[in-house]
Amino acid sequence: MGAGIAQISITAGHETVGREVELPLAERARATIERYVGRSVEKGRMRAAERDDALARLTLTTELSALGDCDLVIEAIVEELVPKQELFAELDRITRRDAVVATNTSALSVTEIASATSCPERVVGMHFFNPAPLMPLVEIVRAELTADGPVETGYAFGERIGKTPIRCHDTPGFVVNRVLIPLLNDCVRVLDEARVTPEDLDTGLKNGAGWPMGPCTLVDLVGIDVHVHASEALYEKTREPRMAPPPRLVAMRNAGLLGRKSGRGFYRYDES
Ligand SMILES: NC(=O)c1ccc[n+]([C@@H]2O[C@H](COP(=O)([O-])OP(=O)(O)OC[C@H]3O[C@@H](n4cnc5c(N)ncnc54)[C@H](O)[C@@H]3O)[C@@H](O)[C@H]2O)c1
Repeated sequence: MGAGIAQISITAGHETVGREVELPLAERARATIERYVGRSVEKGRMRAAERDDALARLTLTTELSALGDCDLVIEAIVEELVPKQELFAELDRITRRDAVVATNTSALSVTEIASATSCPERVVGMHFFNPAPLMPLVEIVRAELTADGPVETGYAFGERIGKTPIRCHDTPGFVVNRVLIPLLNDCVRVLDEARVTPEDLDTGLKNGAGWPMGPCTLVDLVGIDVHVHASEALYEKTREPRMAPPPRLVAMRNAGLLGRKSGRGFYRYDES
């Protein structure tokens, strides 16, 4: 997600610093960004000079202090509360007092992350969707103590990078995942209840409900592990049974059937 957000930022004209824990990981992210930006040139959506300018706006580092002069920092590290709080406590020390510090968390509480800082007023959620360069939505999440200014800064940045931002408060799942996760879990339960095949379930939702993509295809794309993790996090917070991951998905995750990225989920995918 970090690489995707950096890619949107540089192509929208912003000087961007990408911080990774190890340089080889940062270089891998650069290679990914170069590949996708290069494809835009091949497809005629961008000129070669624009690609070169965009890539020149990206600086990679392992040093957190390199973020010290940024106007906006968007965190996209592992989805665990303690590492995020530790990072926000450090960002609190090294960033400018007028900088906005955002988290891309999907399922954690922005308020809890912000509580690790001395200035929770400047912490906001900026929840991008995967793949970030392609998905238009970004949820701008106001935590309990977030001030108006940082919410508007996040919103305005979302617009400047060509996204469609929406504002919401810090509640479990925010807006889209609050609706989508239990819905997809229901779909997976229906597979067993109605003894329908994944192909027929997808056909049903596409042709009977106007979904652009069937639920099994969507869960495969998101990643079974990512979906199970998000379901567990939402269930922990809401205790609503529909949020809990269906046993079938947990079994698939445990067996390494992670969807498109592992080559097999509800469907099989070729290497190409
Ligand atoms: N994958 C998705 O579909 C998706 C969608 C929306 C939001 N998100 C959120 O984005 C964040 C990242 O998700 P991801 O799927 O890209 O995760 P990931 O595990 O693929 O990547 C996390 C990256 O963070 C780096 N990292 C780990 N600890 C770090 C630290 N202490 N400091 C700096 N970097 C560190 C890792 O090296 C890794 O490159 C999570 O909060 C996740 O909830 C993910």
